[in-house]
Amino acid sequence: MANLCKTFVRSFATSAQRANVFNHVTVVGGGLMGAGIAQVAASTAHNVALVDQNNTILGKSMTSIQKSLDRVAKKKFADSPAAGEQFVRDTLARITPATSPITCVSHTDLVIEAIVEDLETKKKLFRELEALAPQHTIFTSNTSSLPIGEIAVASKRKDRFGGLHFFNPVPMMKLLEVVRIPATSDATFDKLLAFGKDMGKTTVCCKDTPGFIVNRLLVPYMLEAVRMVERGDASIKDIDTAMKLGAGYPMGPFELSDYVGLDTMKFILDGWHKSFPDNPLFKPSHLLDKLVAQGKLGNKTGEGFYKH
Ligand code: NAI
Repeated sequence: MANLCKTFVRSFATSAQRANVFNHVTVVGGGLMGAGIAQVAASTAHNVALVDQNNTILGKSMTSIQKSLDRVAKKKFADSPAAGEQFVRDTLARITPATSPITCVSHTDLVIEAIVEDLETKKKLFRELEALAPQHTIFTSNTSSLPIGEIAVASKRKDRFGGLHFFNPVPMMKLLEVVRIPATSDATFDKLLAFGKDMGKTTVCCKDTPGFIVNRLLVPYMLEAVRMVERGDASIKDIDTAMKLGAGYPMGPFELSDYVGLDTMKFILDGWHKSFPDNPLFKPSHLLDKLVAQGKLGNKTGEGFYKH
């Protein structure tokens, strides 16, 4: 009886955990972020459609998801490789790759857009999705630097529109910034917060302000470090050492910049400077511009502020 009770409680707890706020999620964009989001959504019992432009890209997305899942399974099921293999199979089976949103958006509860960081391209996509999605479907963008409100202009469902800003690598990073525009309804926002929890993330709430919380603080910080070097106040290496040993940060600002990508930093900064030309924190940097022009983008090109 005791065992029966335990089994009942366990299976009840499992089914309670599985009662996700959304059943079907469509992730548009199967790149670095989209693949990670699709992976975590599927591994937390969501049915996922992963949309990208062609089957070659989708094939690469699925391969990277499989490799990442293998790593997760190795850790999570260290004592039971068979259970790990089953976990990988079950998760992959919940992801359906698609070359067009037409086949999946008609029955989806949530769209997460993770395509190229270009306002017009994102707006075009949401205009198309508006015509395909049922009334109840919530639209979100994973943009890092564009205003959610400007993307939402392309949609008629502004009360069902918000931002879900994940961090790279999505399977590892615990944080999810949940962003609301003035029109986002409380019901939508509550569902997005609940979805974050279903995904196993810790959620924080933020208004539609440039960079939300993390990037709004991090990007000016990294840029201020670059400006110190431009002025000759201190060296790259000493600034990194100072912030690691003096502030307890795991990486210095230049190591972090190389990891993020100098092109990404420049892109974000230029966009903010255009929108807020009077804000001195968003002023362009000569040194950053020069390195990007030389193709020194950080870890991904083998050289940025450091040689890798
Ligand atoms: P990525 O370049 O790795 O992937 C973008 C994908 O979108 C590509 O596979 C591309 O083929 C696809 N795509 C482009 N237009 C499309 C369309 N119309 N329909 C379907 N697929 C389309 O880019 P990444 O890094 O994954 O970034 C995606 C979004 O996530 C951007 O908005 C970015 O700002 C944001 N983001 C990026 C982070 C990062 O660390 N890379 C962190 C958080 C957010």
